Amino acid sequence: MTTTVNGIEIHYDDLGSVDMPALIFLHGFPLNRTMWQRQAEACRKHCRVIAYDLRGHGETEGGEEPFSIPLFVQDLLSLMDALRVKTATLCALSMGGYIALRAAEEHPERFNALILCDTQCAADTPEGREKRLKAIRAIETDGVEPFAEGLLGKLLAEQTFEQHPETVAAVREMIVSTPAHSLVHSLRAMRERDETCSLLPRLTLPVLILVGEADQIAPPDASVYMHNALPAAELVIIEGAGHLSNLENPEAFNAALLPFLSGHCHRD
Ligand code: MLT
Repeated sequence: MTTTVNGIEIHYDDLGSVDMPALIFLHGFPLNRTMWQRQAEACRKHCRVIAYDLRGHGETEGGEEPFSIPLFVQDLLSLMDALRVKTATLCALSMGGYIALRAAEEHPERFNALILCDTQCAADTPEGREKRLKAIRAIETDGVEPFAEGLLGKLLAEQTFEQHPETVAAVREMIVSTPAHSLVHSLRAMRERDETCSLLPRLTLPVLILVGEADQIAPPDASVYMHNALPAAELVIIEGAGHLSNLENPEAFNAALLPFLSGHCHRD
């Protein structure tokens, strides 16, 4: 399905009944809404499940404006308005989590609960910012393929490479099908993002934090930090998973997600 908001056509799936409480999935960089298939199928019994492609990812066009976390937040709020979703639970991985935390801070009345997966509240360190610039230059010079190979090694656990070649292939395909200009715009947006750690003590909504035990990009320590800073959070470490915990160990991920949803996926 598609809808035009903020000057771009957003592609999304809308599963389950509109009478159910809404659960919106936000994918990570540089992936797309298909990464949530296993969760969307499992959750549609409990919620109205909406999974969309962020600007410049999957089937959604990039538009003219430079990407930024505030622009991604505007897209989310505009999509909710277009789909007549007054309040929702967000399930967001990594860059999706950067968007979800900012959205919940700015519009607390629109969100019932958060599921923060393999994400962090800190901004990029100076070294991290430098690495983003190098990645941007490398994409501009050498294209997407070498970037994809390098990123895959950071996104997935060794166990996934050994035991789940189909997951590796699916993630590679998502990365290489993302246009180079979207990669560059998203890397700039993440590089420029503000921290959200200082707002955590004020986020009183229920939060479930999930993180792969071998996450190299937003390591478990970053989740432990958020767990300690948030007033109402649960933390579950997903075994046998790296940064893409929902894809690498969907059974364990869903086993944590579903009980949380049955308690917190409220009706509007
Ligand atoms: C993501 O998975 O969304 C990104 O790798 C996060 C990041 O690079 O900070």
